[in-house]
Amino acid sequence: MDIEILPLTDTLGAEIRGIDLARPVAPEIALKLRDAWYQHVLLLFRNQEMSNEQLKRSTEWLGEAGEITMPPDRRGDADLSIALISNILDENGKPIGALGDGEMWFHHDNSFTLAPDKATFLYAVELPSEGGHTLFGNCYRAYDELPEELRKEIVGRRVLQVYDYTVREVPDTTNLGDVPHCWQPAVVKHPVSGRNALYVDRLMSAAIDGMGPGDGKALLEKLFPYVERTDYEHVWQPGDYVIWDNRCSVHARTDFSADQRRLLKRGKVAGEELVAAYL
Ligand SMILES: [Fe+2]
Repeated sequence: MDIEILPLTDTLGAEIRGIDLARPVAPEIALKLRDAWYQHVLLLFRNQEMSNEQLKRSTEWLGEAGEITMPPDRRGDADLSIALISNILDENGKPIGALGDGEMWFHHDNSFTLAPDKATFLYAVELPSEGGHTLFGNCYRAYDELPEELRKEIVGRRVLQVYDYTVREVPDTTNLGDVPHCWQPAVVKHPVSGRNALYVDRLMSAAIDGMGPGDGKALLEKLFPYVERTDYEHVWQPGDYVIWDNRCSVHARTDFSADQRRLLKRGKVAGEELVAAYL
């Protein structure tokens, strides 16, 4: 049986029907999935039933699994390639997973590492009755919509990406110490599509190379609204599996009530060092 590819919106995402990701993907289907993924940036597969072992193999059509970069006490799972994203507490009141409750700002996964993950997937296990949706923004579009003068200011510059797992908010550059951080191109040239994508976000971008803190922050503030765009809002159902390209998209989480349980499993596909775009 052939797969069906149904765009989710005009600007991001496609649902794939007719495939069981728990089973090995045939080479001709893998080719179609890769083409669809690079074209649509995100793929959704509904009604999947997968063990951790099957989840680990579910990205073979795209590349090598990436290792989790979160500090071990926040992984919530000893497994190095599948992490639990959850607010659920165990019998001792300890979180079983990472990233807890509530809203989370738009960000690129792992931008604070030298070779950020190519892709992230999430697989939904248990969900709140309301909220906890995932918003996705298309960063090719974000770049395409920049006015000429902003493009000239940012293309070719580097951005300092910082992630302090303990705050989940504005990056603080005065005391980086052990906080994961990395300089990245502020506009990346995608290694497959060749298109330019804006690579800044409010959760992790803290400074611009060659600019003082005031000017750098001011420029970032002008850029953030371009990536904070909801091209697709995913309303989760149990069994949903979503996989997206981290080089050319951002994602955010909508709020949900702390008394509701939410559990997703997350895995990654290893990436390479990012390539800077030029005008
Ligand atoms: Fe994320």
